[in-house]
Order: sequence, then structure tokens, then C-alpha cells
Amino acid sequence: MSLEEIKLSKYGLASRLPSPVNRMMASFSASFRDGLDINLGVGYVNERTMPARDMAEALFGVLKDPARYRLPFNYGGPRGSTNLIHALRRHLLDNHVGGLTAPVLEQNEIIIGPSGATSLLEAMGQVMEKGIVITTDPMYYIYCEYLHRAGFELLAVPEDEEGIRLDLLEETLASLGERRDAVRFIYVVTVNNPSCTILSNARRKHLVKAVSALSRRAGRKIPLILDRAYEDLIHAPGVPPPESALGYDEDGLVYEIGTLSKVLAPALRIGYLVGSPGPLLDTLIQKTSDTGFSAPVINQEIAAYMLEHHMTCQLQRVRAGYREKAVAVRGWIEEYLFPLLTECRGGQAGFYFYLTFRRTDTREGSPFFRYLARTTGDEQIDGAAGNRHPRVVYLPGSFCVHPSGRMQKDGQRQLRLSYGFEELEQIRTGIRLMAEASRYASLQ
Ligand SMILES: Cc1ncc(COP(=O)(O)O)c(C=O)c1O
Repeated sequence: MSLEEIKLSKYGLASRLPSPVNRMMASFSASFRDGLDINLGVGYVNERTMPARDMAEALFGVLKDPARYRLPFNYGGPRGSTNLIHALRRHLLDNHVGGLTAPVLEQNEIIIGPSGATSLLEAMGQVMEKGIVITTDPMYYIYCEYLHRAGFELLAVPEDEEGIRLDLLEETLASLGERRDAVRFIYVVTVNNPSCTILSNARRKHLVKAVSALSRRAGRKIPLILDRAYEDLIHAPGVPPPESALGYDEDGLVYEIGTLSKVLAPALRIGYLVGSPGPLLDTLIQKTSDTGFSAPVINQEIAAYMLEHHMTCQLQRVRAGYREKAVAVRGWIEEYLFPLLTECRGGQAGFYFYLTFRRTDTREGSPFFRYLARTTGDEQIDGAAGNRHPRVVYLPGSFCVHPSGRMQKDGQRQLRLSYGFEELEQIRTGIRLMAEASRYASLQ
């Protein structure tokens, strides 16, 4: 007797197939040849920025002080390790992160997610009533794709060089009419992924005002989730330090999510949220307990130790490392690609450039894509079977823009180039190959 398939939830049904970008990355990584192929697609952190020796010292430091770091290998509490929460608070204050002050931090709480910022973002999608989420276009495709599978409707508002455009946000809200009531939250990445556009302080302030006005009109709190994942990685000189929106959040609508992944190590899986106490925070804490009781306590204690002993130096080191790479990569983009582009975003923060080609279609399966994947069918270009020429992975813009938003057409000529993971010489070769691929595409 054949049995009917297992009954899946709506989310389960939507998650049976990998997302297009997961599928593309999985198929590429299955056949990736280290030292030959060039990965400008993944958002991996540079291995050399991770302070392995300091973290080994931190592990022993934690184990040697059981009075302070109690039970580091046991279960932890769902709010997060007290040591880590204290260390984060001190770090935010001592390093003037976002200009946060003691009174502002007193009005807000810090909680630690079970597995990085991602788990806190996922939790938001779990505990919030389904409805509309408004975000920036291009959007953080990983989270937005998750929200879509979880049953949310996404609306994406294009950005300019200061971040999300508020005139278009107003237009979008006006076009919703009665459906404005279905807006559940606003999600904005402060150094955007994929474009690395930095949300300016003026825009941030106006965004908080706009969300306050929206909440007041609706008669209920509509949270503004600010994802600060790359905000500690602003490395260009002269960029005004970003201000935390918590400083001017009169209605308690702002929740800022940070991570230690980009400045320490993603494998620690330490993400935190700062926001006002209340039902949303209580629910997120319960969700952490439901997911896995807490983030691994030993990782939280190592992170606390690192924040207290090494963070100032570490931040300087990481920023200097990405600065150097950004300058070199920008030079090669100018040298090889500039005549082919209409826009080049990024390079001031994080580790992405977001390129808009004048004519080149960058979508999966396009001639440009196939040239770089060495699947054109022309042996001169691809190399012989079993001995393919170096391949280059990038993230096509079509995966990053809203599929039915205003940027859908532009996205087909865009790509995200990550300079995080690969070393400089490979990146240079990758950019040179992109220029070749664009010329090849123009002849097809
Ligand atoms: C915008 C954004 N938010 C969150 C994350 C994930 O952070 P974590 O490693 O803490 O889960 C990333 C990682 O690439 C990201 O780009």
C-alpha cells in the first residue's frame, strides 16, 4: 500500500525546494575547485580577519574563571548570558557605538538570539501576525525570501545613495489604501546587503518619523527593525558615524539587530537585539527558548571575553583589512569594468560592490553568466571537459530585487561582487574575466 506524503504546513510546503539562490550556490559549491575557481558570490567573511589566537586565549580565560563564567558548557537562559549582555552594553557605551548613551540603553534591553542575527530575524517572522513587510530594494534576499515562504507579502522601496527613499515609501503606503492596515513591520538593513549603501543619519531620522506617523495613524505600534549587520564595518574615511535610531525613538518602535559574525567570526553565531521591553521582546525570548534554550553558552562567554579584552583592536584590524581590499577592488572595477557600467555602489562599508551594467544581462543562464560558469559550449572559452578554465561566481541582481517591484528590470543588469572571502589576486582575475564575459555577451 502506498502512503500519502507527510502533511506539511504552508511554510513546510513552501520550503520543500531550495530557493533559486541556494540552488545556484549549492550546485556551484559542489564542484568548486579551491585555488582555481573564484567565488565573488558568497557573503563569507575573510578568514584572515578572524582572531583565532585571541579566541583560544578567550576560551582558556573563561575556563580559568568559574566564579565569573559559571557553567559555560551547560544549558543557558533564553535572554542570553549575563556576562555577554553586560559586555555588549559596555562595548556600545565605551566605543560610542551609534552615539548610544547610558540613559537610552537604560530604557532598552539587550537580548541574545539562539543562533546569530538570522535567528532573531526568523523569530520576528514567527511571532508577528502575517501581513505586509516593507523593506528596501534591492533587498536582503535571504531574509526576504524566508519572509515570503513564511507567508508575508513583501513590498520593496528603492534606495538612493542615502538609503531607502522616503518619497517612494509614502507613495507605496498611499497606494495600499485600506490595506495599509496589514503592514506588520518595516525591515531596513542600515548598510544594505547587497548594495552596501549606508543609510544616512538624516534619512534614518526621517524614517523613524515616517514609521511613527504610520503607527499613530494605525493606532498601533508598527516596529522598525534595523539590521545593523555591517554597521561596525564602515571603513571609508570621512563617513559620519551612524547614529542609533534608538536615540530618537519616542514611541518605542525601533529594534536594532546586531551581530558579531562580521567582526569576530560567523561560527560563534552571536546576534543580539536592542529594543524596548514589552510583549515583542518577551515573545522573542520565549522563541529563543523554543528554538534551543539559548545560544551555546561557551560561545557567548568567549564573545563576552573578546568584547572586554580585544574588541577595540579587532575592530581596527578588520576595518583596515576590508578598507585595503575595497580600495584595490574599486581600482580594478575602474580599470576593467567602468566603461561597461552605469553605476557602482559600495566600497565604503562591508565587503560588497553592487554593479549596474549598461547593457549586460547578468541573470542566471545569460551569456555573461555562462561565460563565467564556463558553460557556453565553446571549448575555447570553457576549457576542455575535466579541465575547465577558472570559473567566477557572483550574485545576480535578479535575485536581490523584488521580482515585481520597480527595480525588477534594473536587477537584470546588476550583480553583487563580494570582496570578503577571496584574496586580492583572485578578485582581480575575477573582475578581468567579468569584463571578458561582458564583451562576449555583447557579441551574442
Ligand atoms: C543583512 C544581514 N543580516 C544578517 C546577517 C546574518 O548575521 P548572522 O551571522 O548573525 O546570522 C547577514 C549575513 O550575511 C546579513 O547580510
